[in-house]
Amino acid sequence: MRVKIVSIFPEYFGPLELSLIGKAREQGILEVSVHDLRDWTHDVHRTVDDTPYGGGPGMVMRPEPWGEALDGLAGSGARLIVPSPSGRPFSHAIATELAASEDLVFACGRYEGIDQRVIDEYDGFEVSLGDYVLFGGEVAVLVMLEAITRLLPGVLGNAESLVDESHAHGLLETPVYTKPAQWRGREVPEILRSGDHGRIARWRRDQALLRTAARRPDLLHAIGEGKLDKRDLALLGEGGFPVPDDGVAE
Ligand code: 6GU
Repeated sequence: MRVKIVSIFPEYFGPLELSLIGKAREQGILEVSVHDLRDWTHDVHRTVDDTPYGGGPGMVMRPEPWGEALDGLAGSGARLIVPSPSGRPFSHAIATELAASEDLVFACGRYEGIDQRVIDEYDGFEVSLGDYVLFGGEVAVLVMLEAITRLLPGVLGNAESLVDESHAHGLLETPVYTKPAQWRGREVPEILRSGDHGRIARWRRDQALLRTAARRPDLLHAIGEGKLDKRDLALLGEGGFPVPDDGVAE
């Protein structure tokens, strides 16, 4: 996968040298280049912003430097991603979709955002991390790239960790424990030490269901009808989570 990032703060992307993303780059699974938007300005002040048409606070990123940058960087087939608090919510599903792309270009906006015509011209996909506002798209790109990169074949050592993890199957993950079995008077649940893999699997599903019902009832609805069996529904009922007629806990 080839990733190009355009930003007025290229220094933000130092962490991409580290850890598993850095290793994926060394292994040639991932190619990343970071570009300074100001390299496509032509005035002595290297200006990238101007006042918004229609008035209002803040500044808007001018289309010309973006146009020149993206003409050069976003070759045919490249997908343009624009981090924005007004974008569609980023998710495991979107990460999976983007992980199938060979060429991604991320355009990091600052100020009030990038002139909309740039996003329209390159058919940009506006994506948000959540319902809060960041200073700019740089940190959002780091977050998205971690989520995407770990889905690329060969990046994670243990392929099973992809299958079982939170959000892959629509439920939150179960609590995890390691040695020692006793710590400050707190004990690892006996069942996890029982060696009974059938009971352990059922316990883990129960924990995942109860956690998801308590913390993220929206996810339980999203996994939809037919995905919860009678035992699941009974567990949620006993846990005090109301189970409506559609078979998905409220
Ligand atoms: Cl992707 N960008 C910015 N600037 N703010 C955000 C965001 C993205 N997601 C949530 N807030």
